[in-house]
Amino acid sequence: MHTVNIGDTQASLYGKDLLTLKDLSEADISALLTEAADLKQNKIQPIFQGKTLAMIFEKSSTRTRVSFEAGMAQLGGNALFLSQKDLQLGRGETVADTAKVLSGYVDAIMIRTFEHEKVEELAEHADIPVINGLTDKYHPCQALADLLTIKEVKGKLKGVKVAYIGDGNNVAHSLMVGCAKMGCDVSIASPKGYEVLDEAVNAAKEYAGVSGSSITLTADPGEAVKGADVIYSDVFTSMGQEAETNERLTVFTPYQVNASLVKHAKPDYTFLHCLPAHREEEVTAEIIDGPNSAVFQQAENRLHVQKALLKAILYKG
Ligand code: CP
Ligand code: NVA
Repeated sequence: MHTVNIGDTQASLYGKDLLTLKDLSEADISALLTEAADLKQNKIQPIFQGKTLAMIFEKSSTRTRVSFEAGMAQLGGNALFLSQKDLQLGRGETVADTAKVLSGYVDAIMIRTFEHEKVEELAEHADIPVINGLTDKYHPCQALADLLTIKEVKGKLKGVKVAYIGDGNNVAHSLMVGCAKMGCDVSIASPKGYEVLDEAVNAAKEYAGVSGSSITLTADPGEAVKGADVIYSDVFTSMGQEAETNERLTVFTPYQVNASLVKHAKPDYTFLHCLPAHREEEVTAEIIDGPNSAVFQQAENRLHVQKALLKAILYKG
């Protein structure tokens, strides 16, 4: 779909794309989280009879693939797993042609790829909604699940301090934007040269100005975690950066979430991680498998928020 401006109510998401959380208002996100909580209780709602979601994957996935596929099934629809190596897209068919052809067969497209611009191009040429299932820049579906989890665990979003420790990557960008919109105070600690993008910082600062929250950027993990309600971590080496693994392991060593770092947070802090995790790299097993971790609740919430998103985008009611 060409239009990416999403209005103030959940109903306004009908027929729209989700490329980044910048396109959703605070009211849109609140409505999606409320719907997700309802779907968590009322799992099976066969409203999508005859509807199909095409899922294009150019990178690996466990959570995104399975939660979208299971979610479509629970809503009475169907999901198609389309890997790059099987699609003609992988042999040079254009993104535009792929978008136009799929628009004739299915009701929506979810895509996981490298360049964010590719998702924008797909959305521009598709006549059906396009959902970003992760690009090098953004991971909006993950951030929706993160917000639902924070709301469940802390009982609110406004005023909750969320500290992200590590690479200024796709997950960090979407988390920062989503948290700023919903009134969470965000602090991000990344090493020099691996900071979050200005594009995401500028958007987050604008939203923080509206919601009354704050954005703090630092290179010091201790400072970021100070008084935090939530500590969030992601891998040091994202998909596509494998050649930099050794260098990154060295640079990011001080950014491990471990027993000594979490002492700076509130005693009842919650640990979140988008998963997959590398124990003893970005987080110790003691923390991710410890009593303050909510990572599996967070992973499950991918299913519920994505079903809410699909319902908002594809179901008129
Ligand atoms: N968190 C997440 O997107 O996981 P997958 O890569 O397994 O989809
Ligand atoms: N930052 C990670 C997230 C995986 C869900 C990556 O892009 O590989």
